[in-house]
Amino acid sequence: ISISWSTSMLDKNGFDHYMLKEIHEQPQAVAQTINGRYDLDTGKINLKAYGINHINLKEINRIQIIACGTSYYAGCLARYFIEKFTGIPVETELASESRYRSPTVNSHTLSIAVSQSGETIDTLQAIKFAKENKAKTLAIINAPGSSIAHVCDDQSLIYAGPEVGVASTKAFSAQLASLILLGLAIAQEQKKLNTHKISEYIDELIKVPSFLEKVLMLSNGIKEISIKYYNLNSLLFIGRGHQWPVALEGALKLKELSYIHAEGYAAGELKHGPIALIDEDMSVVCLAPKDSYYEKTISNIEEIRARGGKILSVGTEGDKELQNISDDFIAIPECSEIILPFLTAVPMHLLAYWVAVRKGTDVDQPRNLAKSVTVE
Ligand code: G6P
Repeated sequence: ISISWSTSMLDKNGFDHYMLKEIHEQPQAVAQTINGRYDLDTGKINLKAYGINHINLKEINRIQIIACGTSYYAGCLARYFIEKFTGIPVETELASESRYRSPTVNSHTLSIAVSQSGETIDTLQAIKFAKENKAKTLAIINAPGSSIAHVCDDQSLIYAGPEVGVASTKAFSAQLASLILLGLAIAQEQKKLNTHKISEYIDELIKVPSFLEKVLMLSNGIKEISIKYYNLNSLLFIGRGHQWPVALEGALKLKELSYIHAEGYAAGELKHGPIALIDEDMSVVCLAPKDSYYEKTISNIEEIRARGGKILSVGTEGDKELQNISDDFIAIPECSEIILPFLTAVPMHLLAYWVAVRKGTDVDQPRNLAKSVTVE
């Protein structure tokens, strides 16, 4: 497979930074990831178009997703969907841990390396280990012809286009879309979902780009909100279920871009430690859209509020209950659970971006970081 990236794709297109441009390219990135990979008439995922040419998905009874950084969080999120679609146990692992842990894999394991660059050394070594131990290996990558792709049995490009900003944004959304498609493909091959159900999910995925367009319009509002946050020393991010990996991603983005200490937590874990941090000087970014975890998350937010913590919430448009207990409220459109994490991730990226711009840090090339980590 070869794709060419023209030089016009590498200018900033009128944006101040590559990162902002790439955040705004998310609708297109997701559309390119899913286009041509399914047939709406038959409700079937086209395995060849997806990149599955050698692996027999019918034989898989365990899935291991291996990745680093933001790609790892895309993998953490995908786990919820793939397990739901297929009933197959999915483990998402940090490549730097997996490669030294000698995980148990066999010929019925599908090991998936998720990497924007396709060159991350830990991911490469971990997937090599899986392959040596007979796992079926799939690379989900953005860079064609990369080292990770060469090692794997099959490769699937996300077609997000070149990503220049060190902090990954559009690749995250595209990786998530790709992993959801893969989950549906496995469910299709193993007859865990019927074609009607698969079509329904694909219909939802197809809506993601237009929903993303709407959420991107929040950028100026988030720029305003960022005034309150750029002077802070520390922030917590919480979410449940699908929103937990989004909280982790929000915290990662904030620390890497603005050098502000940030921690992502599963909302239900608050009471096991982090709640001790809450006082009137602590701000918490709370991801609480209307999903199946909503009520539980709201009660966590109330616990924060009762202790004087400041709340920046991301929730569903028109949610007065959440808005009333929040100091700041970012509203995303009402949508299905499959679409939600794509939408809540965007305010995380925009918040980190605008906080960093206000702080005057080097947004596209934060200190001490590299786009692709090819040495240990
Ligand atoms: C570096 C980058 C991150 C990226 C991670 C994994 O740390 O700064 O943005 O998420 O590597 O990169 P990969 O290319 O494997 O997705």
